[in-house]
Parts: sequence; C-alpha cells; structure tokens
Amino acid sequence: MGLRLQTKATALLFLGVLGLMACGSSSPEGHEMPDAAGLDLANASRNYAMKCAMCHGEDGKPVLATAPDLRTSNMTVEERVAIIAYGKGTMPPHRNTLDMPSIRGLAVYLDKFTD
Ligand code: HEC
Repeated sequence: MGLRLQTKATALLFLGVLGLMACGSSSPEGHEMPDAAGLDLANASRNYAMKCAMCHGEDGKPVLATAPDLRTSNMTVEERVAIIAYGKGTMPPHRNTLDMPSIRGLAVYLDKFTD
C-alpha cells in the first residue's frame, strides 16, 4: 500500500515536471504562433512599426502628408496586398523586403485601424 502510494506520487511529480517544462518552452520570448488563419499578427505589428509607421503613423493617422489615412481606407485585403507588394507613387514596394505571408499579415493587420 505504502509503496503503491509512493509510486503514484512519483508519477504525479514526474507529470508535474513535464508540465513545467512545457510551460517553460512557451515563454513570451518564445516563437509566436500564427493565428488560425496562419497569419502572424505580432510579426505584422513589428513590421508595421518598422516599415510603415514613418509614413502612415503608429495608428494609421498619416505622418506623411500624401499618405492616405489608413483609418478610413476602404481597400480590400487583396488590394492592400497589391499596393504593399508593388507600391504606388510614393508608396514604396515591399515585395523585395517582406515575404508574401508577411505582406498578407500586414494587409490583414491594417483592419485594426478601421475599427
Ligand atoms: C515612404 C512613405 C510610405 C511608406 C514607408 C509606406 N507607405 Fe503606404 N502609402 C504611401 C503613399 C504616399 C500612399 C498613396 C499611394 C497612392 O495612391 O498614390 C500609400 C498607400 C498605401 C495604401 C493604400 C491605402 C488607400 O486606401 O489608398 C496602403 C494599404 C498602404 N499604403 C499600406 C502600407 C503599409 C502596410 C506599409 C508598410 C509595409 C506602407 N504602406 C509603407 C506612403 C508610404
């Protein structure tokens, strides 16, 4: 009886340690998981801050006079993907500096400004 209890306790302890290890590997610094649509919006947020905010502003409110206000833009996600990838006028193309999943991620991320 005593031995069985001890075995059980050891097994529980072992599971506990496994659980801790699993938690440890999903630390905030760990790799961000893409959301259900396969988009990495945390990555999009970083890209926006580094590559878009200097013209379009942190929250879509333009810094550059000629940049459209992304809060009132009514482009579809597909149209955004096209303009982000290929550029237009002073809007620079990003197809050589961002991969397609990142461009798509940004196009979806912009929805956050139009809410
Ligand atoms: C150098 C400044 C600049 C940067 C950097 C820039 N844009 Fe633009 N963006 C513009 C300008 C200017 C336009 C308007 C282009 C036109 O219609 O002639 C524009 C247009 C757009 C549009 C179309 C909006 C509409 O409704 O017409 C989207 C979407 C957009 N930019 C997203 C982005 C994203 C995402 C990034 C970062 C990857 C980015 N832009 C980086 C200047 C910039």
